[in-house]
Amino acid sequence: MPGFPDNFAWGVATSAYQIEGAVAADGRGESIWDTFCRRPGAIRGGQTADVAADHYHRWPEDIDLLAELGVSVYRFSIAWPRVQPQGRGRANPPGLDFYERLTDALLARQITPMPTLYHWDLPQPLEDAGGWLSRQTAQRFADYAGLVADRLADRIPLWITLNEPFVVTAYAYALGFHAPGHELMLAALPTAHHQLLGHGLAAAALRAAGARVAITNNYAPVWPATDGAADVAAAHACDTLQNRLFTDPLLLGRYPDLSAFGIGDADPGGVVDGDLEIISAPLDALGVNYYNPTRVSALPGSPLPFQLEPIPGYPVTAFGWPVVPAGLTELLTQFRDRYGESLPPVYITENGCSAADEPSADGAVDDQPRIRYLDGHIRAVAQAMTAGVDVRGYLVWTLMDNFEWSEGYHQRFGLVYVDFATQQRTPKASFRWYRELIAAQRG
Ligand code: FCB
Repeated sequence: MPGFPDNFAWGVATSAYQIEGAVAADGRGESIWDTFCRRPGAIRGGQTADVAADHYHRWPEDIDLLAELGVSVYRFSIAWPRVQPQGRGRANPPGLDFYERLTDALLARQITPMPTLYHWDLPQPLEDAGGWLSRQTAQRFADYAGLVADRLADRIPLWITLNEPFVVTAYAYALGFHAPGHELMLAALPTAHHQLLGHGLAAAALRAAGARVAITNNYAPVWPATDGAADVAAAHACDTLQNRLFTDPLLLGRYPDLSAFGIGDADPGGVVDGDLEIISAPLDALGVNYYNPTRVSALPGSPLPFQLEPIPGYPVTAFGWPVVPAGLTELLTQFRDRYGESLPPVYITENGCSAADEPSADGAVDDQPRIRYLDGHIRAVAQAMTAGVDVRGYLVWTLMDNFEWSEGYHQRFGLVYVDFATQQRTPKASFRWYRELIAAQRG
């Protein structure tokens, strides 16, 4: 393994809804995911996150695991419905207290907290008022950010506003796989602008409290299925949606050309004068989530002018996702070329894989495929850094097995195995491997 700089941040990431459970504890309000989990057929096996990994009650044990792992940074998310059960108004003190206890316990172990304010768990009352289709939600998000910052910004250096707004627009509003389950296709595009505006307004609230601000997007190099002009154009259209729509406005202050989608004026809908100035206030860092590349072919006559194609010739994860570490180097160097000086320092805020982890008779979980995945991708980060990309940290998705959205508990991404019947946590072989890697890098 190549050497990384001494101050490189090694970490893991989680999200509130996927691990906390305790959905009715201490005044928490309902989120759109609580509602979605009750929709027949929405979640594989009809599972819910009512208990998840019970982190809300077991967090001290989980922080002990983080300390044992030796990470310098821990990315978690704050559940908006715990802080504002109705999505507006005064804070619910027990909600903020929970994250304050977590923050202070991390700091006591020299682990830097890296909170995400929105990892998909919108308060249900805000969805009832239009959700991210409504411009008002952006202001609500900024109000919520301000409440959290008032309590915690004095102790936390770097904050992430949104997690993967592209997935929210695509899965939650266009295709309906994620909560709240709308199938609006291109009519979902205003949710892109409202989320970015929410980011910009929240960033201002965080900065007013002295915080530094990042946003996390999921990115993938997009490969055309063939060299033919139609497939190359399809790849360009897909790249625009996945990699540019949520990045050009942040870094360049303008939306990309959306003409491939029949939209003439580079406006996904909802843009008001002054919005792009708010959205493009300089970022302190860009969070990059990477899992695999995307490959597409042309789909003439469809509102979405491309379709996804398999990527043959690579190993696949338990989820069926191709394992292509070089795609991460490609993506990072492409971003360096595309954005130049406008690209802020990068953190890999998620990278990891699901595997068919089964404890053996002695209880051990020997997850060699995950070790190979992580090893390859960490090397890919090193290559991008050698090529001049300013990467400041790498965070594995994820600390422990959890509720994987519409897949329920069927995909295990953790470094720690969770027996969901007993909530017993067992570090996997990958946990020990990552611990040794971090220790070796620290020298
Ligand atoms: C990302 C999400 C994260 C998790 C991983 C597997 O898209 O941010 O919550 O589901 O994928």
